[in-house]
Amino acid sequence: MTEDYNRRTVEYAHIHATSRIHFDIFFDILGLKEGQRLLDVGGGYGEILLEYMKRNQGGQVFYDLLEPSALQLEKGRTRISADISEAFMHQNVQFFQNDFLDFQSENLLDHVLLKMVFHEFSWNNKVAVLKKAKSLLKAGGHLTVWRPYLRGSVRDFFSSVIQKKDELAGFGTMQRTRYFCSEEEFEALLLEAGITPAEPIFLLEYIFDTSRRFESELKGDQHLYQQWISHILDAYKSADDLVRQQVKVVESPGGLFINFQRAIFRF
Ligand SMILES: C[S@@+](CC[C@H](N)C(=O)[O-])C[C@H]1O[C@@H](n2cnc3c(N)ncnc32)[C@H](O)[C@@H]1O
Repeated sequence: MTEDYNRRTVEYAHIHATSRIHFDIFFDILGLKEGQRLLDVGGGYGEILLEYMKRNQGGQVFYDLLEPSALQLEKGRTRISADISEAFMHQNVQFFQNDFLDFQSENLLDHVLLKMVFHEFSWNNKVAVLKKAKSLLKAGGHLTVWRPYLRGSVRDFFSSVIQKKDELAGFGTMQRTRYFCSEEEFEALLLEAGITPAEPIFLLEYIFDTSRRFESELKGDQHLYQQWISHILDAYKSADDLVRQQVKVVESPGGLFINFQRAIFRF
C-alpha cells in the first residue's frame, strides 16, 4: 500500500471534489476546541490542519499527522511549514510515519479522525482499526469517520469504478488491499468493535468526475482513460435496479459525472 502512496501525488480535495462548505460543515461536526488534541489517521498532507487554521487563526489545538507514506508526510511538512508559524509547528504539530495498526501514542486524544481512509484497510483489519481508534480516545473523546456512503449494491459499483482505476494506474497493492464497505457492512463492523452504530450526521453529494483522475492518476494516457470509461459504462449497464435508481452516470465534457455520496459519522 505504502509503495503506491509513495508514488501517488494527487490533490485529495480536487479528486474528492471537497469544497469549502464541506470543510465548514465537517468542522462544525468535529467540534474541535482550544487545547484539544486531534490524531489525523492517514491524513495525507495535513489538509485538515490547513483548513482548520484558515478558519481559526491563532487557534491553539494540537495536531498529530499519522502517515505510513514518506511522500505524503513530506508533502505535509512542506505545506504546513509554508502556511503556519515555526512556533506553532514546533509546539502543536507532530508527524508520525507509521501504519496506524502499529502506532503507539503517548497521549490519549480528544479526537481521532478517519477521513477517506477507512477503506484503505483490508477487510480483515477493519475491526482492529475501529478498536484501536476507540482505545486511543480520552473519556468523552470522539471518533469521526468521513467515508464513501455506499448502500447495498452501490458498494459493488463504486468499488468496481475505483478498483479499475487503481489497476490501470498501476496501483497494484491498493487494488488488492483496499476494501470499500457498504453501510450494512460498516454497521456490522462497528458492532463487532463494540461501538454503537449511528446514522451519519451529514451526507455530502459527491459528483465523481472521471476527468479529475486523467492527468493525476492515469498520467494523461488516453488509451488507459478510455479503458476506464468503457469499464464504468459496462459495469453500470449490468448493475442492478438499486444502483440504476440511486446513481446516475452522465457524459461530461471530459468523461463522465457520477453522483455518489459521502457521509460523516461521529461516535
Ligand atoms: C485517500 S487518502 C486520504 C488522505 C486524507 N485523509 C484526505 O482525506 O485528504 C488515504 C491516505 O491513507 C493513508 N494510509 C494508507 N494505509 C494506511 C495505514 N495502514 N495507516 C495509516 N494511513 C494509511 C495513505 O498513505 C493516504 O495518504
